[in-house]
Amino acid sequence: MLFGQNCNRNSAYAEPSKTFRFIKKGMVIFMNISVITGASSGLGREFAVQLDGYGLDELWLIARREDRLNELKEKLNTKVRIITIDLFNDSWRAELKIILEQEKPVVRYLINSAGIGIYGRYDEISEADNDKMIDLNIKALVAMTVIILPYMNKGSHILEIASCAGFVPVPFENVYAATKAFVISYSRALKYELNSKGISVTAICPGKIDTEFFEHTGNAKHKPEKKGYIVSAKAVVRHTLKTACRGKQTTVYGMPIKLYQYIGKFLSHDLIIKFMTKFNREIMK
Ligand SMILES: NC(=O)c1ccc[n+]([C@@H]2O[C@H](COP(=O)([O-])OP(=O)(O)OC[C@H]3O[C@@H](n4cnc5c(N)ncnc54)[C@H](OP(=O)(O)O)[C@@H]3O)[C@@H](O)[C@H]2O)c1
Repeated sequence: MLFGQNCNRNSAYAEPSKTFRFIKKGMVIFMNISVITGASSGLGREFAVQLDGYGLDELWLIARREDRLNELKEKLNTKVRIITIDLFNDSWRAELKIILEQEKPVVRYLINSAGIGIYGRYDEISEADNDKMIDLNIKALVAMTVIILPYMNKGSHILEIASCAGFVPVPFENVYAATKAFVISYSRALKYELNSKGISVTAICPGKIDTEFFEHTGNAKHKPEKKGYIVSAKAVVRHTLKTACRGKQTTVYGMPIKLYQYIGKFLSHDLIIKFMTKFNREIMK
């Protein structure tokens, strides 16, 4: 089946538009693709692996480490276009617009997975690192969404990778958590704006995942050792693709994170923040 064995046929978002591909004057006008940022490792890479079976014409993989993207390309059956861009540098916007204008694809899935999180006390994190988190997790994600949107239509899905850190303010992750709160808020509002077009927007809010995230950002101490406190990228992506196809507003994976989301809705945020202050201070000792 095209576009995901996990899609529920009764879902408003399950079926791609009938106009998604047609032949005009002997030429294929549209190709169905997925655009994945942060595809060189972790969640982004796993999304590429699992979308490989979705019958898309091409997967467009975005990250800075070209060698990693090439290595991934070798493993996939779907045709891959590697787009090596640095999302910290705004020139990527013009580069991508040119490619989109030339190819005129239909983007069935946009997955904004590129992201960083630097933890620590407010005065231990440099101004430059705060800027990086805001530039990548917020500015690049919004720009990517807006640039890609004209190439999406009924049945397309936007998956914005947020985090459960976005549910409640988190001391010692204050900027990171705030960027993820932004992603959740932005995605939820955008979803309603796009409802009439049949394009779904889902904010993905996982807990700790076993990826390179902690090594990349110098947060090794924050990576839980115990099974149950950390989950695999494979499981998160499988669950995410399933729920996104149902047009869910947010997704969480695993009982502890579901509980955390639930508590965040009903318990005083001050209490949770106090708990998180103690929890993160202990880790940082
Ligand atoms: N791991 C967790 O515990 C966890 C939990 C909740 C949410 N998340 C979120 O999940 C998302 C994916 O993280 P992950 O766990 O998969 O971490 P990861 O393995 O470190 O992946 C991060 C990806 O972002 C890309 N990236 C970083 N800076 C970039 C830049 N300037 N330009 C282009 N690409 C850039 C990296 O590629 P290059 O270095 O090759 O450019 C890499 O592919 C993030 O948004 C993160 O906040 C992670």
